[in-house]
Amino acid sequence: MVDQWSKVIFLCSVFFLLVGTTLQQQFLVSLQERSALLQLRSSLGLRTKEWPIKSDPCTVWSGIQCLNGQVSGINISGFRRTRRGSQTPQFSVDALQNLTLLSSFNASNFALPGSIPEWLGLRLGVLRVLDLRSCLITGAIPLTLGNLTSLAELYLSDNNLTGIVPLSLGQLSSLSVLDLSQNLLTGSIPESFSSLVNLTLLDMSFNLLSGAVPMGIGTLPRLQFLNLSRNSLSSSIPAQLGDLSSLADLDLGFNLLSGLVPPDFRRLKNLQRMVIGNNFLSGSLPDNLFPPLTQLQFVVLSHNNFRGDFPDVLWSMPELRFLDASENNFTGRLPNVSSNANASFAVFNISQNFFYGSLTSVITRFSSIDMSGNYFQGRVSDYAQGKTSLSLNCLQNVTSQRSAGECASFYAERGLEFDNFGLPNGTQPPPAKSKKKKPQSIDYFSCCFGGYWNNCITCESPLPPGLSLNFSSLGDSFTYQQILQATAEFGDANLIKHGHSGDLFRGILEGGIQIVIKKIDLQSSVKKESYMLELDLFGKVSHPRLVPLLGHCLENENEKFLVYKYMPNGDLSSSLFKKTDSDDDSLQSLDWITRLKIAIGAAEGLSYLHHECTPPLVHRYSENLLPCITIFLTLISFQFKLVAR
Ligand SMILES: *[C@@H]1O[C@H](CO)[C@@H](O)[C@H](O)[C@H]1NC(C)=O
Ligand SMILES: *[C@@H]1O[C@H](CO)[C@@H](O)[C@H](O)[C@H]1NC(C)=O
Ligand SMILES: *[C@@H]1O[C@H](CO)[C@@H](O)[C@H](O)[C@H]1NC(C)=O
Ligand SMILES: *[C@@H]1O[C@H](CO)[C@@H](O)[C@H](O)[C@H]1NC(C)=O
Ligand SMILES: *[C@@H]1O[C@H](CO)[C@@H](O)[C@H](O)[C@H]1NC(C)=O
Ligand SMILES: *[C@@H]1O[C@H](CO)[C@@H](O)[C@H](O)[C@H]1NC(C)=O
Ligand SMILES: *[C@@H]1O[C@H](CO)[C@@H](O)[C@H](O)[C@H]1NC(C)=O
Ligand SMILES: *[C@@H]1O[C@H](CO)[C@@H](O)[C@H](O)[C@H]1NC(C)=O
Ligand SMILES: *[C@@H]1O[C@H](CO)[C@@H](O)[C@H](O)[C@H]1NC(C)=O
Ligand SMILES: *[C@@H]1O[C@H](CO)[C@@H](O)[C@H](O)[C@H]1NC(C)=O
Ligand SMILES: *[C@@H]1O[C@H](CO)[C@@H](O)[C@H](O)[C@H]1NC(C)=O
Repeated sequence: MVDQWSKVIFLCSVFFLLVGTTLQQQFLVSLQERSALLQLRSSLGLRTKEWPIKSDPCTVWSGIQCLNGQVSGINISGFRRTRRGSQTPQFSVDALQNLTLLSSFNASNFALPGSIPEWLGLRLGVLRVLDLRSCLITGAIPLTLGNLTSLAELYLSDNNLTGIVPLSLGQLSSLSVLDLSQNLLTGSIPESFSSLVNLTLLDMSFNLLSGAVPMGIGTLPRLQFLNLSRNSLSSSIPAQLGDLSSLADLDLGFNLLSGLVPPDFRRLKNLQRMVIGNNFLSGSLPDNLFPPLTQLQFVVLSHNNFRGDFPDVLWSMPELRFLDASENNFTGRLPNVSSNANASFAVFNISQNFFYGSLTSVITRFSSIDMSGNYFQGRVSDYAQGKTSLSLNCLQNVTSQRSAGECASFYAERGLEFDNFGLPNGTQPPPAKSKKKKPQSIDYFSCCFGGYWNNCITCESPLPPGLSLNFSSLGDSFTYQQILQATAEFGDANLIKHGHSGDLFRGILEGGIQIVIKKIDLQSSVKKESYMLELDLFGKVSHPRLVPLLGHCLENENEKFLVYKYMPNGDLSSSLFKKTDSDDDSLQSLDWITRLKIAIGAAEGLSYLHHECTPPLVHRYSENLLPCITIFLTLISFQFKLVAR
């Protein structure tokens, strides 16, 4: 008896289940829509596997959503085309116009080579979701997309879209997600985006956008994710971004932003990730910036011009798991806090800064910390072993530290006491500890650099045996073909002058960037050596007073090329000796204030070579001082506009 009842109950449930299912998933009712789908199937070359031609689209085809017998969603994401369809794939979706209730179209990862049709914005009035990520789309974003006023999510990332971002997108007031990242978009971020009041995610990263970050972005009350990284955005970060009280992720990295971090950022109470590395940001970080940001987990400040004391609070923020502050001018001591914190997983990178003093137990907080390239001194406790990089500091009994001279002068300049590696005053530390490269070899090339070999032939130091070159610091590698093209095959018109270490040519790269190319003929051994030394120099130093090296071309055996940034105004020496009423008035004779500035600039450059760069480049002068200075002046010649600013 019990058995009978359970059978009845079971059958009833099956019945209701079936009825329920069919009520939700009605068959496609509209014949017009059916023919539109068939047209789409053939224009896109879809396969029987996903869209079997004889079956009902609403219930059988994959990726079709229906509502009351009409198509409301299409998802062909990741579909493969028929062999025939993949021979001439096109952005051919005209049939969508006849699906009047279509609210979502997802074709991500489905090739739609071609441009977005103009009509799309005018004919799909109820579209809420458009996902065209990674579809190989080209051309501009049509202005008409701004007419899709129901649109809530628009994804166009990872295509080859060109042209500017249309202002009309600012009309999409229902938009909550706008992802235009990884395209080739140019121009600036439209001010009109401040009207996108429902926006929660804005990703425009990895484009070619320029101009400033519009302050109107700061008025978007729901914005949680803002990624504008990897563009060419300039000027300062607008303080208004501090109004983004919902913001959790902020990425402005790899741009040309300058100025200070707005103190208003302290109001970003929900911020978890703050990425502002690889810009030209400067100044010091205000102490009161970080304490309110209690959610912060991930902070990137690297490769900027930040200076001043490192905010102590950063060492003890509860949620902070990753901090990269490398390659700035931060300074100060490590706080001496006894570690009551759990051994955590935090990873810090404070390398290439000006930190000094002793290592403290604050280190125990980290699973890894890169402290290389600072001025820490003293002994290294057990807790620092294994999870720290300590090279290029002033530490005792650690390999690859800075030279005693460097450390002593760093500490002396700041009126601090240096422990001299724990050795009695005046004693040099064992040579094994200092870096391999001996400064003396440099003496030689500071004299001979820039091609004035013959003036300097009396330099005392021997030629350094095998220089090891670090190509990664020598800029881009250019092909010989590119070099030929840039200089019109070394046409006479492009010759600037015959130098001692090589001839200088003017050139233009494909993008219109003006360059100077030094052509070095290695058959002359003199040129070969000076060329190696020059490469070695650029591998080690960079200074605003040195002409920036953009790259090299080492393809040919006997001819090498160095590519420099072109500096307008020509050669310093010709300007210095130019008479006022020369008939070439493109360059005025220099007044004495300017000459003084140049002299100071040159002195700064020399001082850099002498004192600041490691290892010191100029160890001692001989009677060759004069030619050396002449050479240096020539060196900075292309740079002189900067110097005379
Ligand atoms: C879209 O279709 C793909 C492939 O059939 C499927 O994996 C995915 O789950 C679908 N996505 C959505 C949001 O329906
Ligand atoms: C859309 O439907 C109309 C009829 O209403 C028909 O004339 C037209 O050819 C259809 N267009 C497409 C693209 O299917
Ligand atoms: C589109 O489909 C892909 C693949 O299934 C999915 O990951 C993505 O979230 C979908 N897009 C939208 C907006 O739902
Ligand atoms: C599209 O939007 C523009 C304003 O950007 C408007 O002038 C035009 O009338 C709209 N077109 C349609 C068909 O709604
Ligand atoms: C913003 O989104 C909310 C729900 O998320 C919705 O109710 C509201 O209508 C939207 N505003 C606009 C202008 O579309
Ligand atoms: C921002 O976009 C870039 C490139 O598209 C990506 O590498 C980066 O991880 C994104 N940042 C965040 C915080 O998601
Ligand atoms: C950072 O330090 C370098 C090297 O000493 C110096 O050239 C540069 O001017 C400093 N930058 C700032 C912003 O202080
Ligand atoms: C840190 O503080 C402890 C005591 O709290 C002290 O013993 C130690 O010497 C201090 N370390 C430094 C580097 O000041
Ligand atoms: C240590 O870790 C535990 C568990 O993750 C956590 O509950 C506790 O608050 C932590 N203590 C400190 C001092 O961070
Ligand atoms: C720390 O940063 C420097 C410079 O940005 C980088 O070269 C180094 O690899 C980083 N260290 C670690 C451990 O990632
Ligand atoms: C080295 O000289 C400084 C003063 O110049 C002095 O304070 C320090 O105690 C001396 N150190 C040793 C080890 O003699």
